[in-house]
Amino acid sequence: MIRPILRYGDRGLGAPARPVGEFDDSVRQLIDDMVETMYAAPGIGLAATQLGIPLRVLVVDTTAGRTVGQLIALVNPEIVERAGTQLEEEGCLSVPGFNATVVRPSRIVLKGYDRDGAERIVEGKDVLARAFQHEIDHLDGTLFVDRLRGIRRDLIVRKIQKLQRSGKW
Ligand code: NI
Repeated sequence: MIRPILRYGDRGLGAPARPVGEFDDSVRQLIDDMVETMYAAPGIGLAATQLGIPLRVLVVDTTAGRTVGQLIALVNPEIVERAGTQLEEEGCLSVPGFNATVVRPSRIVLKGYDRDGAERIVEGKDVLARAFQHEIDHLDGTLFVDRLRGIRRDLIVRKIQKLQRSGKW
């Protein structure tokens, strides 16, 4: 089921998510809904917090569904290694229409669990590393806009506020 995606300013996006305790059907249903919602958007990643569900679950597919076998769903992901830096443009389904360059490590290793509760170690480089970190930020209640400073942040926030005032957000 495609679910509505929260937008910048919605309560819930800023709240840290809690770990999943039990790998039951409701978690698998949540993952299925997240995948469907991400592909429909379309996007390359989604965190459960963006659907208003405060659980530590993320899905990522850097091909946005164009290539089979690229989908990764991780429950309770943790960054166990990070290296390098990259500075690339980034967007977010919760901040539609806006992009900004964000500094991120260029390689990370995540430890987490798959939909059945089996432990998984996943390495991500470049865009995959970026997507993982972006989604983990969501699980911690942080948006890419929050990682910007000064005028770059103010510019986006002011434009969003203007859209909000005119009912277009
Ligand atoms: Ni996002």
